[in-house]
Amino acid sequence: MTYGPVLLCGLCLCLSPLPTRRLLSPSPSASLTTTTVRCSKGEMAVVKCIRVHELGGPEVLRWEQVEVGEPKEGEIRIKNTAIGVNFIDVYYRQGVYSAPLPFVPGREAVGVVTAVGPGLTGRKVGDVVAYAGNPMGSYAQEQIIPASVAVPLPPSIDHNTAAAIMLKGMTAHVLLRRVYKVQSGDCVLVHAAAGGVGSLLCQWANALGATVIGTVSNEEKAAQAAEDGCHHVIIYTKEDVVTRVKEFTAGKGVNVVYDSVGKDTYKGSVECLAWRGMLVSFGQSSGRPDPIPLSDLASKSLLVTRPSLMHYTATRDELLESAGEVFANVGSGVLRIRVNHTYPLSQAARAHADLQARKTTGSILLIPDDA
Ligand SMILES: NC(=O)c1ccc[n+]([C@@H]2O[C@H](COP(=O)([O-])OP(=O)(O)OC[C@H]3O[C@@H](n4cnc5c(N)ncnc54)[C@H](OP(=O)(O)O)[C@@H]3O)[C@@H](O)[C@H]2O)c1
Repeated sequence: MTYGPVLLCGLCLCLSPLPTRRLLSPSPSASLTTTTVRCSKGEMAVVKCIRVHELGGPEVLRWEQVEVGEPKEGEIRIKNTAIGVNFIDVYYRQGVYSAPLPFVPGREAVGVVTAVGPGLTGRKVGDVVAYAGNPMGSYAQEQIIPASVAVPLPPSIDHNTAAAIMLKGMTAHVLLRRVYKVQSGDCVLVHAAAGGVGSLLCQWANALGATVIGTVSNEEKAAQAAEDGCHHVIIYTKEDVVTRVKEFTAGKGVNVVYDSVGKDTYKGSVECLAWRGMLVSFGQSSGRPDPIPLSDLASKSLLVTRPSLMHYTATRDELLESAGEVFANVGSGVLRIRVNHTYPLSQAARAHADLQARKTTGSILLIPDDA
């Protein structure tokens, strides 16, 4: 008779005991113990994860047990040690962006390789890797990803820092160095300047020699934005953004606006631009912005773009270049990473509620409950 915990096996639907298997020798940063279920059809690793079965508020993030399986050709399995929370996870949970249900959210994590698919070279069990972007599914103790999206983590960067900057840092890199190449002497406007991406944009743009104007919702966030290199901070719940930007720029406007807020800000963003300025609309935390008539761009010869990180890190070379730039700027001290909020993975709902309520600053991490 079995007295321990049991699981309904997904292979043959038998009730199996839950033994624990040691996959390999543990590293200081991650226990590589995985739970497996054995049944007549084989052995299957089971892990805990956050899963979404129906769209909605933070309460739809359920803490569940799932089978993780073995990596196939070209894949690796990683045991996550730190997981980044991003606003895109909220969009998927709400259905603003769609994914087939049920799904495991999350697009950023750091972990230790626990299994390597057949024939794969260049990756081995015990490697520490970070990833950001596709595929979705990082809100899990373990997950399988294509080896091609995993970036080796330099030993100088700890797991929490890396999980806090993979997606947000590469986004900042792409926005500042590729979408609009910020030059010394440029004037840039960053909305949500104390947020995860916003904090990195301000620090990096300042280091590139730009004059940085940040917008935030309250004094506490204003203080952080100033520390992060904003030369001017506008509290947009109290001050008129367009008026203040015109004052700071002697009426000229800014060369580029990095607008992740969307619906509430995009009209003002267009007004804040100088001649030949660029609106970089890269998010919609307040809702989807309305369409901008092309004719509205004519009076100042404006440029508008709606970039996605995935499209700028699609090739292995682009991915490694972007991640390399981020790691280098962390190493040199240009980027100081603010891991301001940490939650157990099982409490991802709390992290989402706080992010949506605008209570957070800097990066948010989920730490797997057994890490
Ligand atoms: N295009 C891409 O590839 C890409 C990649 C990464 C991130 N993003 C986007 O970048 C943005 C920032 O992401 P993040 O993860 O770093 O989040 P975040 O900036 O840390 O959090 C969102 C912030 O947006 C501001 N905000 C304004 N209106 C809001 C509203 N109605 N509800 C909630 N927040 C509101 C809040 O700052 P205040 O209180 O100061 O207003 C809030 O703290 C998101 O829009 C995300 O989609 C895009």
